[in-house]
Amino acid sequence: MIEIMQPPVEPFKIKVVEPVIIPSEERRKEAIREAGFNTFLLLSEDVFIDLLTDSGTSAMSDNQWAGMMMGDEAYAGSKNFYHLEQAIEDVLGFKYVVPTHQGRGAEHLMFQHLVKPGQIVPRNMYFTTSKLHVEIPGGKMVDTIIDEAHDPDNLHPFKGNMDLNKLQEYVDDYGPEKIACVSVEMNVNMAGGQPVSMENLRNLREFCNKYNLKIIYDATRSSENAYFIREREKGYENTPIIDILKEMMSYADGCIHSSKKDCLVNIGGFLATHDKEIFEGARNMVVVYEGLHTYGGMAGRDMEAVARGLREGAQYEYLNYRINQVRYLGELLKEANVPIVKPIGGHAVFLDALKFLPHLEREQWPAQTLAGAIYEDSAVRSMERGAVSKGRDKETGENVFPALELVRLTIPRRVYTNTHIEYTAGSIISLYEKRDTIPGLKMVYEPKYLRFFQSRFEQIEL
Ligand code: F0G
Repeated sequence: MIEIMQPPVEPFKIKVVEPVIIPSEERRKEAIREAGFNTFLLLSEDVFIDLLTDSGTSAMSDNQWAGMMMGDEAYAGSKNFYHLEQAIEDVLGFKYVVPTHQGRGAEHLMFQHLVKPGQIVPRNMYFTTSKLHVEIPGGKMVDTIIDEAHDPDNLHPFKGNMDLNKLQEYVDDYGPEKIACVSVEMNVNMAGGQPVSMENLRNLREFCNKYNLKIIYDATRSSENAYFIREREKGYENTPIIDILKEMMSYADGCIHSSKKDCLVNIGGFLATHDKEIFEGARNMVVVYEGLHTYGGMAGRDMEAVARGLREGAQYEYLNYRINQVRYLGELLKEANVPIVKPIGGHAVFLDALKFLPHLEREQWPAQTLAGAIYEDSAVRSMERGAVSKGRDKETGENVFPALELVRLTIPRRVYTNTHIEYTAGSIISLYEKRDTIPGLKMVYEPKYLRFFQSRFEQIEL
């Protein structure tokens, strides 16, 4: 694996800028308290560098902006839909496309169509909205990722891989008819942005063929996954990213896609499939929940930006810069012994909050605490990805404490310079040096669904 300490050179120049300021120390202290120590509740204007998410936060290219002016805002049959359909066929190889307003719209259609009460969906870890959309129609998501994914220090090059032995156990215990589908996330977000290998996808297809199980990808970060396959998997060193993507997708029956990530846009999503029956089911439902099947909640101009962004986001030169900018942040932190998830992932650097704040109990929400402390120190906004995100057990109502208690420093695409990355690293390193002075939190408000978005906390005296 390549170890770099040089920042990658940006393969673009900057045409438009948006001013940002660092709020005063006093304002930062006040702002995080007003937000109940939840970084989702901070005002954007109080944030200097926003690493909350890579979702919908990309900078679009001049080519995408030009496309926005070519929006065909017809209610039905917009030409931009057909451009999007063509781009998806060219880059991912799927024939059937249903547009949605964003990823969770596609999850809703897909899982409502496939999941019956009492069924399970094995998946390589979970994602918050995906898990909920499996539960709403009465299903349950079960974790079949390899064990290495739960260990932040394990250097397995494909920590997103499915464990086929775990999957076999579920097939034996439940029977194939109780498995709604097998779901595979590309570049697994909650595991630290860790890829799935082509070999694993190929073997999974073979396994699922034996039991007639459908495979549905969460293809949200599939271009970044394809980059890692090219970097790490024998035989793909010189393969164009688009060919890798097409091979990956050939092993799936369909996918959901939040275009707000790898497609370099601010809004959009889609469901795509090789399977006529899934297509018909989703197309019937899209008109109820999203909009007509040729816009699905997006404006014509949004679909054009997605179509162009999908092609741009699959270019090797762009991906090489992108992945290496994330890696640059991770390497700076690693160099200073700050505990992070290794190998450094595709879209973000994940801090290991249990090692960063070992003096806190799990019930004091170490990752939530750390995200608040980082903001207070530097006005850099990050996100908790640990027990608050995981939520409660559906049956017992108890808090679930996952092995990974992380803070995600998510890098928006083409937005921040390498100097912003260095500022962020500098702040976190200085915080790490005084880590034992950081007090924990108690939760004082908890909403019913996806609690991490709106829950509130107060500081506990050290
Ligand atoms: N699947 C994955 C793997 C995601 O990361 C997300 C969103 C979704 C589905 C849902 O898509 O937001 O367009 O409705 N992830 C964002 C994040 C919110 O910050 O990781 P959406």
